[in-house]
Amino acid sequence: MSGKRVAIYPGSFDPITYGHLDLIERAARQFEELAVAVLEHDSKEGAFPLSERLAMIRESVSHLDNVRVASFDGLLVDFARQEDARLILRGIRAVSDYEYELQMALMNRKLEPDIETVFMLPSETYSYLSSRLVKEVCRHGGRIDEFVPPHVAVRLRSMLGPGARNS
Ligand code: PNS
Repeated sequence: MSGKRVAIYPGSFDPITYGHLDLIERAARQFEELAVAVLEHDSKEGAFPLSERLAMIRESVSHLDNVRVASFDGLLVDFARQEDARLILRGIRAVSDYEYELQMALMNRKLEPDIETVFMLPSETYSYLSSRLVKEVCRHGGRIDEFVPPHVAVRLRSMLGPGARNS
């Protein structure tokens, strides 16, 4: 073990939003190293292929020296062990997130008792924000610039906006 406090921030990131980014920036100040980990094969049908989700995150976190971006498949705890990370970071926006997060954290603890899940709160400015809602707003031609970085907004509009190939 390297002795560094490495935390893993896993998710679908389909796509990354300002809510995710807010949490990443907060976590980057607390942990020596943060690995943003994108699930490769999600049971939920994703709008963006893995390569695009990774590219959008990489561009969004390029100003943060101690943040890297990776993908994983299979169990999160196996990936965490492989990365020498003992912390899993998740964001909780509202009480409605809590039940799902509790189940995941306890299952992960059962699978790997040495790995802890830590929860952080994103800024309340983003407590209503989710990738799913941003995609929905974009599909119907609504403004998304307040919710995602400019390069993500461009990709979202070309992928899902009115008149786009997948809209
Ligand atoms: O952004 P999401 O979709 O809420 O992230 C969910 C994610 C990727 C963290 C979760 O589905 C996951 O960890 N999947 C990997 C499979 C796994 O380890 N499952 C057991 C934990 S309950």
